[in-house]
Amino acid sequence: MTATVESNRQRGMSDAEVARKVDHLLSQMTLEEKLGQMTMVENNSVEPAQIAEFFIGSVLSGGGGNPTPNTPENWRAMVCAFQKAALETRLAIPLIYGVDAVHGHNNVKGAVIFPHNIGLGASRDADLVERIGRVTARELLATSVHWTFAPSVSVPQDLRWGRIYEGYSEDSKLVGDLGAALARGLDGRRADGGSGVLACAKHFVADGAAGWRESPIGEHAPQQGSTAPPQDLSPAAQPDAALGQWQIDQGISRIDEATLRAQHLMPYQKTIDAGVGSVMASYSTWDGIKMHAHRYLLKDVLKGELGFAGLVVTDWMGINQINSDYYKCVVASVNAGIDMVMVPYDFRSFISTLKEAARQGDVARERIDDAVRRILRAKLALGLFDQPIGDKSLLESLGCAAHRQVAREAVRKSLVLLKNDSQSLPLSRDLPRLLVGGRAADDIGLQCGGWSITWQGEAGATTTGTTILEVIRATLSDSTAIDYSPDGQFADDARAAVGIVALHEEPYAEGFGDRADLALSPDEIALLQRTRERCDQLIVVLIAGRPRIITDQLPLLDALVVAWLPGTEADGLADVLFGDFPFTGKLPFSWPRSMEQIPLAALRASDEAPLRECGYGLTC
Ligand code: GLC
Repeated sequence: MTATVESNRQRGMSDAEVARKVDHLLSQMTLEEKLGQMTMVENNSVEPAQIAEFFIGSVLSGGGGNPTPNTPENWRAMVCAFQKAALETRLAIPLIYGVDAVHGHNNVKGAVIFPHNIGLGASRDADLVERIGRVTARELLATSVHWTFAPSVSVPQDLRWGRIYEGYSEDSKLVGDLGAALARGLDGRRADGGSGVLACAKHFVADGAAGWRESPIGEHAPQQGSTAPPQDLSPAAQPDAALGQWQIDQGISRIDEATLRAQHLMPYQKTIDAGVGSVMASYSTWDGIKMHAHRYLLKDVLKGELGFAGLVVTDWMGINQINSDYYKCVVASVNAGIDMVMVPYDFRSFISTLKEAARQGDVARERIDDAVRRILRAKLALGLFDQPIGDKSLLESLGCAAHRQVAREAVRKSLVLLKNDSQSLPLSRDLPRLLVGGRAADDIGLQCGGWSITWQGEAGATTTGTTILEVIRATLSDSTAIDYSPDGQFADDARAAVGIVALHEEPYAEGFGDRADLALSPDEIALLQRTRERCDQLIVVLIAGRPRIITDQLPLLDALVVAWLPGTEADGLADVLFGDFPFTGKLPFSWPRSMEQIPLAALRASDEAPLRECGYGLTC
């Protein structure tokens, strides 16, 4: 382990000493310095000089907020420029830089990208998830990033939701166990006294219980545009039609308090017990109140009942949805228990509005001091005051083979075998010929999914890693003839004992992934049929962020492997396809027969069993 940064606890600073340091610092701060600490700005909307001028406490890269060129070194240079400016302020309070490292340091080209949470849910391996957290923390610190907005501890109830794959499972206990494991891993202090980063449990609370057509965005929404616009403002990233499809995301959770507590609150208690230092409020609404203004749940329940002593941060422009009057948005959110606001653009307006609210007494000075105390405590606990710049020597290990081995293990353990007739799997290495069909068989971008290099993710050779086709080629003997066709249009003479088809979803994130229909598309069905006609055994590898409706096509297949969104290390798939490792993955979500069995409530009310139960998985 390289130079370790002693957290307060390792340095022997008791909580009392931390409190004294915080109070001493607070007593020296002006109101402007305090308000600056409560302000988080996105990296393309602020210059380093403004960090100093407005005492900004945090900068983030939203999805796709990458430097150009997108290299680890350039990331480090970008983050350090902001930090340098913060350290030149009167009290030299370090800023904290945050990103969505939700499956590795996934914005950075060359970083290891792990399976998305749904695949880790299939692994049910908390130790593995903790190790993923530790590797992710090291790759973050290599670029001097000290905060990730992970783990998502959503408990998704509707497979049509575009954030389904960010959830570990429909099972609250599994979500809590794996969310706590990631929090422990990210907070490296607990494991080996090493450097840690600030983890962030999100989105508080019950974001996974929002209902269909309840999103405040989308063609059905009552007031189009009255909500936070998506992050990437480039026209290509959010054509109006795509915005129109938002149906669930950021919507209304129509559940009673008993269900909220039992199903959606419990994972937060587990991550808090694991030491998570921040929580992000959800865009969603419960009991008629936006979560960003929900005083009962943020202050009384999260901070009071659950004893959360860390900081609560908003989502991207999350307070803007509270009211059409921005002054009321600021007052309602901060008084409800929000400590730091992800503005993320117009920081001047936020700071001046909060200053006016403080002057008017609409936001008490004690509330501001409590928010700033929580922020300073988190920065002190991270060791940011001692070492505000991440250890540069960690750059050498970013994307290294050892880190990729952890991701390869995660891919292996995430695979779920749903069908394996006539022992089609495992495959022999000495096949005379093999047909491989589907774009996703040779596309890193498709196997990574959303939140990968860009916010929405995209097809193509987007980063370093291995594709399914590459690892199949590397595993098979040289004598095997491989016919590859992205759309199944094989040569006339192409016929083989075995055919593999990789089906996929086009990458998506957030509401852009809200889907009314999860059935296979006509093109996917045609690809299956074209390949079926030319092989004796047809094996399907499904690259998707959720279960798809495949009931009608299942008889066509001899084997079905669910690979979810495996990330950059497809080697893990070959390890299992060719029998070096067994299938051990178990479904983290029930697999519906039809759309009529979605959401989960409909499935539970149905008198027909799902196609496969949550927890199902063949071994071989
Ligand atoms: C997004 C997401 C949240 C993410 C944040 C910063 O809109 O809702 O999960 O952490 O903004 O990118």
